Amino acid sequence: MPVTAADLRFTGRHLLGIEGLQPWAIQDLLDTADGYVELNRQPDKKRPLMKGLTHINLFFEPSTRTQTSFELAGKRLSADVVNMAMRSSAMKKGETLIDTAVTLNAMHPDVLVVRHEQSGAVALLARHVNCAVINAGDGAHEHPTQALLDALTIRRRKGRLAGLTVAICGDILHSRVARSNLLLLSAMGARVRLVAPPTLLPTAVESYGCEVFFDMARGLEGCDIVMMLRLQHERMEGSYLPSVREYFALYGLTGDKLARAAPDALVMHPGPMNRGVEIDGTLADDIERSAILDQVELGVAVRMAVLEVLTRHLREGGA
Ligand code: NCD
Repeated sequence: MPVTAADLRFTGRHLLGIEGLQPWAIQDLLDTADGYVELNRQPDKKRPLMKGLTHINLFFEPSTRTQTSFELAGKRLSADVVNMAMRSSAMKKGETLIDTAVTLNAMHPDVLVVRHEQSGAVALLARHVNCAVINAGDGAHEHPTQALLDALTIRRRKGRLAGLTVAICGDILHSRVARSNLLLLSAMGARVRLVAPPTLLPTAVESYGCEVFFDMARGLEGCDIVMMLRLQHERMEGSYLPSVREYFALYGLTGDKLARAAPDALVMHPGPMNRGVEIDGTLADDIERSAILDQVELGVAVRMAVLEVLTRHLREGGA
């Protein structure tokens, strides 16, 4: 039986995070996304599933991959897609987040895709609208579609998620990608290790139930997946690191450090990358080892699957 938004326990009809999603629902979303990967490689990439529906992208933080791939996903499903230019929106004139949400809601959108710098802002907005809301990243909280596309990338390259050892390395403290990935990968039976300096780990990290390493070489030992994270300077107040050079020496991914992982270990990064800060540029470009462009490609398929699931009830006459 096909999965519906209600089955997915997406806090009602939304996708606000990985938290609360059942493993079978994650699996179903990944299976649906798999079907779109092939479609996206064809010259005709269009399907009529969202014909007549309106999809608005509301990005309060800069984005290249996430916003573009949501736009492409909506367009490939035949939705009318609107990208709000938040820099020139009425919020710059003092309108609140809730007033903006209520105003857009009055125009009857069917899906709002929202990115915001504050954790919890997307859930707050979702309480004031009638349509489906997708969290495209809220502060350091969650980024569910990134975790789904990462999982699809791993599943397609390794054939499974369960039983793999995944090292998530770098600025865990400020990373919504790390949080959503940790939740998803643990739910699907992978073992997660966090590798970071103590200053870039959340205080309650022990409660996450995963292994923590301050030493990168030890943390990468035998890993199947090495997931690197960007240093999020824009979320740092004060000094977290002695210097970028020292950070690269200790926590930057290089061929030497990667040699400690499994011989066929896959390198991932959600982008945007800081070459020479968290990852050696040559390694990032090595198509044998790096799945970074796969992640970008599969992002469109995953977002099509999420849009399909969240709007399915509209096509079925309102379940
Ligand atoms: C991530 C994000 O915005 O959280 N990027 C992305 O969505 N591809 C990670 C980051 O900004 O470092």
